Amino acid sequence: MKTAQVALSPIDEMRFGIRVARIHELTQETLDETLEFCRDHAVKMLIARTPSQAIRFVQQLEDLGFRLMDTLVYYRRDLVRTPVPELQNAALTRPVRTGDETVVREIAAQAFQGYLGHYHADPRLDLAACDAVYVSWAERSCVDRAVADEVLVAELEGQLVGFLTLRRNTPEQVEIVLNGVAPSAQGRGVYRELVIHALVQSKAWKAQETVVSTQIVNLAPQKVWVRLGFEPFQSYYTFHKWFD
Ligand SMILES: CC(C)(COP(=O)(O)OP(=O)(O)OC[C@H]1O[C@@H](n2cnc3c(N)ncnc32)[C@H](O)[C@@H]1OP(=O)(O)O)[C@@H](O)C(=O)NCCC(=O)NCCS
Repeated sequence: MKTAQVALSPIDEMRFGIRVARIHELTQETLDETLEFCRDHAVKMLIARTPSQAIRFVQQLEDLGFRLMDTLVYYRRDLVRTPVPELQNAALTRPVRTGDETVVREIAAQAFQGYLGHYHADPRLDLAACDAVYVSWAERSCVDRAVADEVLVAELEGQLVGFLTLRRNTPEQVEIVLNGVAPSAQGRGVYRELVIHALVQSKAWKAQETVVSTQIVNLAPQKVWVRLGFEPFQSYYTFHKWFD
């Protein structure tokens, strides 16, 4: 999980053609400086995450015109006390190889079309550009170690059908960042298999826990995580604030 100060987001500016800033943990203490930063940098849209338990602060944000776009729930899986579940070999799972990125792109395009995230929830953003966020993110994860430390892919009958990206947040903590299974292969346990491999990889890196998050309304991955021993521990609201 990132806890950063407010910063411009060149990648969002490129995607949507407007000046965008992001802050990963907006709090009462950082509100004034965040708004000042947006004024100084002529920001048109701010993407702000805030812990959902700070309800009075959330109401203050509503009064200031911040609009709720999604609710993220975080899960963690202990790797020290609880053994990693057995693989069921629902799919052949392996690290990504050069050349796989084209298929991973295609899987992301199918899996994330019209997704439930904060970009798609904002009626002011172009839907095709929202779809493209996940596609380019998945591709960059395969080819750029600054985006993901590892990408696992799953094959069924010789075809790549799923992917999962991993980031080492700290030596103790690994995060599953982006994951998707092609709609034609969903419901066959491919995702479960990928997540177990993610736990195996986390252990190989000697991490103590694996964390992951999704929109609270996205039930399919949460069912898989709970069955594999993940537990919820934190939630965030994502707001967009438009300055025009
Ligand atoms: C989430 C996702 C990766 C799951 O892939 P999958 O290979 O189908 O997952 P599995 O087969 O291992 O298991 C999924 C479980 O969720 C269930 N499920 C599927 N859609 C569901 C829904 N809309 N509501 C509730 N449960 C659902 C499946 O039936 C299965 O449970 P079951 O064993 O009781 O049948 C896939 O649906 C996907 O790519 N979704 C779009 C992108 C996405 O949401 N990525 C995850 C972001 S964190």
